[in-house]
Amino acid sequence: MLTLGLNSKPKLSYETFCLLRDIIYAKCGIFFADTKKYLLETRLVRRLEEKNLKTFEDYYYFLTYDSSRDKEMFHVINCIVTNETSFFRDHVQLDAFRKGVVPKILEEKAKSIGKTFKVWSAASSTGEEPYTLAMMLLEDGLQAKGISIDIVGSDISDNVLRACEAATYEKYSLRNTPEQYLRKYFINNGDTYTINKKVKEVVKYRKINLVDSLETRQIKGVDVVFCRNVLIYFDDASKKKAVTHLYDSLNKGGYLFVGFSETLHNITRLFRPVSIEKSVVYQKV
Ligand SMILES: C[S@@+](CC[C@H](N)C(=O)[O-])C[C@H]1O[C@@H](n2cnc3c(N)ncnc32)[C@H](O)[C@@H]1O
Repeated sequence: MLTLGLNSKPKLSYETFCLLRDIIYAKCGIFFADTKKYLLETRLVRRLEEKNLKTFEDYYYFLTYDSSRDKEMFHVINCIVTNETSFFRDHVQLDAFRKGVVPKILEEKAKSIGKTFKVWSAASSTGEEPYTLAMMLLEDGLQAKGISIDIVGSDISDNVLRACEAATYEKYSLRNTPEQYLRKYFINNGDTYTINKKVKEVVKYRKINLVDSLETRQIKGVDVVFCRNVLIYFDDASKKKAVTHLYDSLNKGGYLFVGFSETLHNITRLFRPVSIEKSVVYQKV
């Protein structure tokens, strides 16, 4: 099948589009509807150039048979998913976490022997979300109350996890960060800011694919999950899978935050939606 256009730009045929979307879907749960064919074509053309491949068919064979196909798949994911995030993103949800959810969990902890407050930032991208949650819990003085803080940040992409480990951020990413946090929890390098040791100590990173139960099973005993702005890329079947995995990782009574524009309506009845400080949060019952 010849797939070169007049100006020699590779063209994505419908058949090859279906083959590519099937491997992407199987790997990470992201589904490209027929209407998104052009999007996939424009995003992946860079990878063909990078790999010196002339056609999308060659690229499909590369992704299927080459010994470096797993590594390449992560470049594919980086091309199709935005990693956009920032510190203190969506203050309404963070208010719900701090004013509603944290006190409730602490109340429960006071009655039990478990003295660790565990949060999972699933699909954390470059780390701003887990570090924000860590700073909020440190600021609430949990450690002084005898509660240790354990935050797990995870993502499917190696690239973003490397940025989490480096923990150095441009000012733009910090645009919503209150001054008092900047002073207390960051080292100012001039144009960039680095997370300080106190915060880094309570955050660990793991590579986890949310639609893979073997991987999500590593995370257990979680009090609160943040899984924001990733479900929008999934079809209903992948959403159901990911949300069931998050449910299994949560403690009974634990809470799940999804993105402000995301909902579990028609996806699962495992959780009870509760309204806290103007946000809908999902509780494991
Ligand atoms: C827009 S970012 C969300 C960042 C952060 N949660 C927030 O709301 O600010 C979406 C992230 O989802 C990750 N992702 C995409 N598919 C995934 C999957 N199947 N499992 C885990 N992470 C995934 C991407 O690598 C990307 O870093």
